[in-house]
Amino acid sequence: MGNSLKPLIFFGTLYFLACRVFSNLELRSPVITDWGDWHFMDDCPQDKFVVGMQLRTHNYQGFWTDDSALNGVKFFCDQLGSRSDQIAVASGQENHGSFGTKKFCDGVATGFQLRSEGSQGWASDDTAGNNLRLICNANSSTQIEGDGLDFGSWTTPQECNRKQGLCGYSSQIDHDLSSGDITGLNNIKMKCCSIPDPAETCEPEDKWDLLIECDNIDALTETTCQYTRKVGISHSAAYSEGYSHLVSTYVQVGFTLDQALSALGINFGTNLGRNSTTGYDWTASTSDVWSVETTTSISFNVPPGVRTQLFQTMGKCGIYTVRATRVRRVDTEGATNNQTVTFIDI
Ligand SMILES: *[C@@H]1O[C@H](CO)[C@@H](O)[C@H](O)[C@H]1NC(C)=O
Ligand SMILES: *[C@@H]1O[C@H](CO)[C@@H](O)[C@H](O)[C@H]1NC(C)=O
Ligand SMILES: *[C@@H]1O[C@H](CO)[C@@H](O)[C@H](O)[C@H]1NC(C)=O
Repeated sequence: MGNSLKPLIFFGTLYFLACRVFSNLELRSPVITDWGDWHFMDDCPQDKFVVGMQLRTHNYQGFWTDDSALNGVKFFCDQLGSRSDQIAVASGQENHGSFGTKKFCDGVATGFQLRSEGSQGWASDDTAGNNLRLICNANSSTQIEGDGLDFGSWTTPQECNRKQGLCGYSSQIDHDLSSGDITGLNNIKMKCCSIPDPAETCEPEDKWDLLIECDNIDALTETTCQYTRKVGISHSAAYSEGYSHLVSTYVQVGFTLDQALSALGINFGTNLGRNSTTGYDWTASTSDVWSVETTTSISFNVPPGVRTQLFQTMGKCGIYTVRATRVRRVDTEGATNNQTVTFIDI
């Protein structure tokens, strides 16, 4: 190896290390004014993300009095699918004005946009930061806007990468009394953290799901019944209290169904394996189980005097449902109540 290669490798290694250590992205508001000191980065607890905000605004004071507009922001952190004001990050703030309305995303905040007013020149009243928007679920048409003032104009939106959410906040606050013109909040930095993959972190369980019951007890001839064979992975309706869009939140921030398939296979195989409630061996599932769900129509015969129930092995893991190929058929004889159980692969 020539010596000339060494610096390249050295810097390559440094770059690699830097990427690993600082994989959390930091967003900054475009600098329109630059007054005041930066306060500490206030982080949401691990695996909690910004879901809402509340602005502290110094309302318009009239022509003769000093205005400072936006004085501080409180961001509310929660896990995906919940939105409470129990945990807040606030970094620094100036203490004029009062807190306005609490506003929440239908999901998770993935970016922001600050409204700023540039310098008004000597002897004029500056306000700097005025208002703030949060972009929810990486979708600019679902943003929420604060109840700040409207001096200045909106700066460029700053957005996290896919599969990330806002998770920390630092503010630049002008407290300077000596100028007689306090501007309050000037700039903000926000941190983006990776959202845990719902296919890797969910806890799998399974059960027998009744597919169909075909009652031929009173008949004298055999009958044919039909059901829809569903095999593979789908989204389940996942609700938590007061919040029903968990699936669409995950999908919009980048966790699409087809990217979840192999992770779910590994998760079920590792954590449920052969020891499942239904006795199904999740480690030996065929490839159509770990595919997006498909449906086909299937028919089966039921003898006279018999009631047949079909149950399918159904796995559940967070926002996902996995339908396996294993079916338990229970035939009950009307006359004797005798039951015969058979297992079929569909
Ligand atoms: C963004 O949100 C709007 C309004 O809720 C919705 O109609 C649209 O489908 C969303 N876009 C994406 C890419 O999810
Ligand atoms: C299987 O599951 C049962 C209860 O669900 C548990 O008590 C047992 O330890 C498990 N066995 C293995 C090998 O994981
Ligand atoms: C129930 O089924 C078993 C086995 O098929 C049979 O030996 C038994 O006689 C049946 N019982 C009745 C009440 O018919």
